[in-house]
Amino acid sequence: MCGIVGYIGEQNAYPIIINGLKKLEYRGYDSAGVAINNLKNINVYKKKGKVSDLEAFTKGKDISGTIGMGHTRWATHGVPNDVNAHPHTSMNGKFVIIHNGIIENFAVLKKKLVARNYTFKSETDTEVLADLIEYIYLFGKVNAETAVRLALNKVIGAYGLVVMCTDEPDKLICARNSSPLVIGYGDNEYFIASDATPFVQYTKKAVYLDNQNLAVITRDSVTVKTIKNDVINPDIQQIDFDSDEAEKGGYRDYMLKEIYEQPKSILETIRGRVYENENAIKLGGLLDVMPKLLNARRIIIIGCGTSWHAGLVGEYLIEEYARIPVEVEYASEFRYRNPILTQDDVVIAISQSGETADTLAAIQLAKAAKACVIGICNVVGSSISRETDAGVYTHAGPEIGVASTKAFSTQVTVLAMIALLLGKCKYMIGQQQYHQLLTELLSIPEKIEHTLQSAAKVEEVAKLYKDSRNFLYLGRGCYYPVALEGALKLKEISYIHAEGYPAAEMKHGPIALIDDKMPVVVIATQDKGYEKIVNNIQEIKARKGKIIAIVSEGDTVISKMADHVLEVPKFDTAIGAITTIVPLQLLSYYIAIMRGCNVDQPRNLAKSVTVE
Ligand code: G6P
Repeated sequence: MCGIVGYIGEQNAYPIIINGLKKLEYRGYDSAGVAINNLKNINVYKKKGKVSDLEAFTKGKDISGTIGMGHTRWATHGVPNDVNAHPHTSMNGKFVIIHNGIIENFAVLKKKLVARNYTFKSETDTEVLADLIEYIYLFGKVNAETAVRLALNKVIGAYGLVVMCTDEPDKLICARNSSPLVIGYGDNEYFIASDATPFVQYTKKAVYLDNQNLAVITRDSVTVKTIKNDVINPDIQQIDFDSDEAEKGGYRDYMLKEIYEQPKSILETIRGRVYENENAIKLGGLLDVMPKLLNARRIIIIGCGTSWHAGLVGEYLIEEYARIPVEVEYASEFRYRNPILTQDDVVIAISQSGETADTLAAIQLAKAAKACVIGICNVVGSSISRETDAGVYTHAGPEIGVASTKAFSTQVTVLAMIALLLGKCKYMIGQQQYHQLLTELLSIPEKIEHTLQSAAKVEEVAKLYKDSRNFLYLGRGCYYPVALEGALKLKEISYIHAEGYPAAEMKHGPIALIDDKMPVVVIATQDKGYEKIVNNIQEIKARKGKIIAIVSEGDTVISKMADHVLEVPKFDTAIGAITTIVPLQLLSYYIAIMRGCNVDQPRNLAKSVTVE
């Protein structure tokens, strides 16, 4: 949550910062602000609302300078308004700071500063940090870097931050603990950002700061240290995506683009990993932990939001094909409930961003219990990918829309590969069945492509139900988590209340909600739960519910019962479950658009939740 950008070099900082902030708006859009340093003054402008509101506000103002920083906020401490917007300036004006994270002991620090006659303009924890740095600087008579370092030693909490000092105007100081920060290395210019998208058009060389590290950046040097003052030789990495991957590419929104990108993204996920001719799956990132995985007493999958839903599909696939017991937990619950963990457990942490605070904390807990921890992440170099013992990247490409789409389908693809790999190694799947499963896995991109061609039909259905106040989503087996994910998509972007339920459980409550105004989306493809789901559809029909059924192509039974059918290609195994999410993503997308909602930036949400 919150996106930060910094620049120091020879170009005008303002446009680089503003464009960078636009790319980071997925992290929060409650307010935005910049500080631009022209070596005489640091001009600070900040505004409630989006980066575009800030841009309008700065029209005609002095935005000159080749050093700058900017922030787009997802509010934690203090309501979204101009005053609580970042950057924050210390009481005597010596320091300006932007911050992503939460200073947990801010109240204690604030009390101490109040006792030293400090007063505060905002309600934020960040202003307290700005004042703490200034207090140490003025009264300790130290330089800016030392003041930042000493202040950070007093801080408990998460931070990705950039600091400017009016007395040392030709540098930026940045630091990280739990909130991500990347430094881009250009020619005589450096960039700082929460992820690499703001600067990838300028440079592909980057250093991902580690926890409790700090960097002092001038026009011609970067010095990285720990907050204990040990100098570090940073590992400069090559970023492997292009700037146009993070653009809309002719689509109306990122979300629509990302829905349509799924065939390509899944191809990237399986590229170099599935070998049909050799009848093999190879996951290089898991080689070292294969003995652990094959001997696991159980696998615990953790994640949040959509990643948790992908985990539920994974549970189904791993138990079905590898016969290893799996439990799926919300990371936020797992971390606080003193779970029983041993070194015979394998924990799989799923996270698109690789930065979700609860998932990171749950990983640390699992590692402390000596469990082997595997990551399934999309963002390369993210905190979770570095914190885990081994992992598999989804390679979905940047996902910018706040509502996750291609991340889900690629996460499920990775889980399917893990399930099949383990199933084969444990001799749970015969050669012939394995070959059939691999063929199905490889056919998913093409089948999703085919499903996307029915978008116009989904749009027609959306038109009929866009004003509904409630939706029910039902599925059985591995389609139950797909129902949960479909309901989540609708809630997130259209603000319609939606519930996902296991179809048979409907009788134990939700059936009471069904009347002739209630749209019920049922995933009813032809596989082993088919007959049961047909019965569930009858039960809804008897209560006059409006049925939108996701069916296998050519299904003639359900098309007679349902009010609307949306077809997906036929699969013979659960491997194809991913395909059924596509019409649900499109349905929520069209409904949200017809209701005039901003699908890429739904209210109150953020893509990367780096606070608990
Ligand atoms: C937020 C996002 C969701 C995402 C969840 C978990 O709530 O809005 O789209 O599923 O975080 O994020 P992660 O990056 O860990 O997958």
